[in-house]
Amino acid sequence: MRFKDSVAFVTGAASGMGLATARALADEGAIVYGADISGEALQREFAQIPGAKTVPLDIADSAAVTAAFAEIGETHGSLRVLVNAAGVNAPNRAALETLNAENELSFTAMKEGRRHNPVFIENTSDEDFDRVMRINLYGMFHTIRAAVPLLKAGGKGSIVNFSSAAAVTGVVMPPYYPASKAAVLGLTREAAAELAPFGITVNSLAPGAVDTPLFRQSDPEFIDFLIGMQPIRRTATPEEIAQTVLFLASDEGSYYTGQTFSPSGGLVMS
Ligand SMILES: NC(=O)c1ccc[n+]([C@@H]2O[C@H](COP(=O)([O-])OP(=O)(O)OC[C@H]3O[C@@H](n4cnc5c(N)ncnc54)[C@H](O)[C@@H]3O)[C@@H](O)[C@H]2O)c1
Repeated sequence: MRFKDSVAFVTGAASGMGLATARALADEGAIVYGADISGEALQREFAQIPGAKTVPLDIADSAAVTAAFAEIGETHGSLRVLVNAAGVNAPNRAALETLNAENELSFTAMKEGRRHNPVFIENTSDEDFDRVMRINLYGMFHTIRAAVPLLKAGGKGSIVNFSSAAAVTGVVMPPYYPASKAAVLGLTREAAAELAPFGITVNSLAPGAVDTPLFRQSDPEFIDFLIGMQPIRRTATPEEIAQTVLFLASDEGSYYTGQTFSPSGGLVMS
């Protein structure tokens, strides 16, 4: 067991890759704290994970994040692993529907030999841009800042941050998503450099098509089209990605820091 009795904190733990990672860490003996804004789903999913604890919170709420880690500090004194999987691709349902409708128009036009040029930048409000940055970027900063004293206290630790293939390729979509996910890479590299002397590694994943509720919000035909552009023509399972997270967080991954790994079926190559 690679994480026997180690304390791990996973955000976005009620669904998709966060949930798969929480389960995999628990299978390897970790005491898993799972945080998610969706408290009900978190309770439901975590009822099946032995010894795991639920932390319903919005990672954009700095005070709530600080309080959650303070409690872990009081109970355990240290932390071994932080996985930042919480994220959104839209600030609300209306924005998500607009994105899906634009993708549909682009896809239909392409099939008919035409081109559709979506207009996202001019139609993005301050509020929408702000909300996504507050979750995808600020939220991650909040958890890292609160976790660092506990990771240092343990003498060694690992942080794994979820970015996106959209951060390292040019995709037409509302700008808050690739902007926030590219900022995650900067945050990762700074933290990697600053925290290496304390035995803490920090890496990012930039996934492509992973079969999760977030990804399935798109039209199935459009998903098939996206996958068709990849050398490996299938989606990944959240469980596959969780194994990469565990490798990076374990002793086997201890010489990697500041890196971006892209599980994207070869869509992104470096
Ligand atoms: N699925 C993909 O294909 C894909 C591709 C690239 C990047 N990603 C990124 O990977 C990460 C995991 O994605 P997933 O596909 O597993 O998504 P998902 O939607 O299945 O799970 C994300 C979880 O984050 C939670 N969450 C959202 N906002 C939150 C907040 N403010 N505070 C706390 N929790 C919050 C949601 O409730 C949800 O349970 C995300 O950061 C996503 O942007 C996913």
